[in-house]
Amino acid sequence: MKAIDLRSDTVTLPSDEIRQAIFDAQLGDDVFQEDSTVNLLEEKAAKLSGKEEALLVPSGTMGNLVSFLVHCPRGSEAILGDRSHTFTYEAGGISAFGGIHSHQLRNEADGTIDIQAIKDAIRYDNIHFPKTALISLENTHNKCFGYPLSKDYIDEVSVIARENNLKLHVDGARIFNATIALNTSLSSLVENVDSITFCLSKGLACPIGSIICGSKDFIYEARRIRKALGGGMRQAGIIAAAGLSVLDNIDTQISKDHQNAKVLAEGIESIKGLKIDSNKVKSNILYCRLDTDVIGEDEFLNLCKKENILFFKYPSGDYRLVTHSGINEDDIKLTLSTFEKILS
Ligand SMILES: Cc1ncc(COP(=O)(O)O)c(C=O)c1O
Repeated sequence: MKAIDLRSDTVTLPSDEIRQAIFDAQLGDDVFQEDSTVNLLEEKAAKLSGKEEALLVPSGTMGNLVSFLVHCPRGSEAILGDRSHTFTYEAGGISAFGGIHSHQLRNEADGTIDIQAIKDAIRYDNIHFPKTALISLENTHNKCFGYPLSKDYIDEVSVIARENNLKLHVDGARIFNATIALNTSLSSLVENVDSITFCLSKGLACPIGSIICGSKDFIYEARRIRKALGGGMRQAGIIAAAGLSVLDNIDTQISKDHQNAKVLAEGIESIKGLKIDSNKVKSNILYCRLDTDVIGEDEFLNLCKKENILFFKYPSGDYRLVTHSGINEDDIKLTLSTFEKILS
């Protein structure tokens, strides 16, 4: 029996088209910049993001780490959200490998960071302080209900960055969920940021890979740091081919994922014993929780697992469910009827 795996969009498996593209890929040594498929993908990503150049890296975590390492000299400070992926889930890499001091500010429920809080966090020159070098935002925001950050908000932060001689990075692991939720283009959304990473391996269903986009000088340095971190890959065209095969066709699947998330949330809202505000669902991530004493949080999770419905539970008691290309409308219906059966 097929598992309905709602734990993450990282579980997506490549389609037959992606597998064929990988099989057909023209290859070369990408550390020598001789893999034509990688070169094509990087050109395409640069164009799509409106940035001068792009660089393929193995993962979103490495994309963020490389970007921070380029922007932030050792001992400098990066401002980022306290619920951001980089602060929470990247094993402290920016401090471990970059000597970067993280200055965490509260993420609001919609993934933004208060504008005044950002302004207040920027250090003035004093030998007691680290120098602020970077502001980093996350779009869509994983731990904040998959909320997309608007262009207006990003632009407002970019003005602060520019006025204070700081760089602005966007962790756009799910940036296409944001562009689709906001009905805008990538180049417009990130027009005023210095660097952006996005993942091929989540909603886009490629098996591996993320891309960093930025200026020519930024990517030149990023390439050196990627090499230092062991991320210089040789015949990386087998990864890039997958990315190339999906970049023209992003909208259809991600729009479906958003629609499925909405139906799932509205269904959960009508089930006695579960609680969610379905108005909060803007992309493919939703959080809900139990609203009953008749069953425990772990018990509900385990009973669903026995029925082959998988999702995550956090210590806060929140369950996270993520829609993606491996989930169709029937899976949503079956998930809802199973929830109802368990809770009745
Ligand atoms: C917002 C965000 N940024 C970065 C990453 C890291 O991506 P990867 O798993 O490819 O390292 C993730 C992974 O889930 C993520 O959700």
